[in-house]
Amino acid sequence: MLRKFFYSLLFFSILCFSVAMADDIEKGKALYKDPKLGGATSGKSCASCHSESSAAKWLNKKEYSIMGNKAKSIEEAINICIKNAMGGKGLDPKSDDMKALVAYLKYLAKK
Ligand code: HEC
Repeated sequence: MLRKFFYSLLFFSILCFSVAMADDIEKGKALYKDPKLGGATSGKSCASCHSESSAAKWLNKKEYSIMGNKAKSIEEAINICIKNAMGGKGLDPKSDDMKALVAYLKYLAKK
């Protein structure tokens, strides 16, 4: 009896977790194409300059180089592009938008 309850609970948690992950990926995909991301003003989105197949390789890198700027993490690299290539302010590395964008990149890397 208790065991059944435990398994149902486990199943339910996994289900909720997958739904939440899928939501993040969908949101990240929209943000990737959003020309207003992080206060951007240039009318360009990530997708204007980077194909999905090049974005799929980003998470394997230890260091990024963007127009003469070095970044140690994907979050830092994303913000350099938002500031320098999109005329925006950047995203808080811990924000939901940043998490969703990174979730989308993870999804692309596995695709
Ligand atoms: C106006 C064009 C432009 C836009 C818009 C842009 N980028 Fe970039 N990005 C570049 C250029 C140019 C580089 C440096 C050359 C390269 O590696 O492709 C770069 C480099 C990067 C890198 C490092 C790649 C590497 O291999 O080291 C990442 C990660 C990145 N961009 C992510 C993003 C994300 C995420 C967005 C959207 C928030 C974005 N970029 C928007 C032009 C742009």
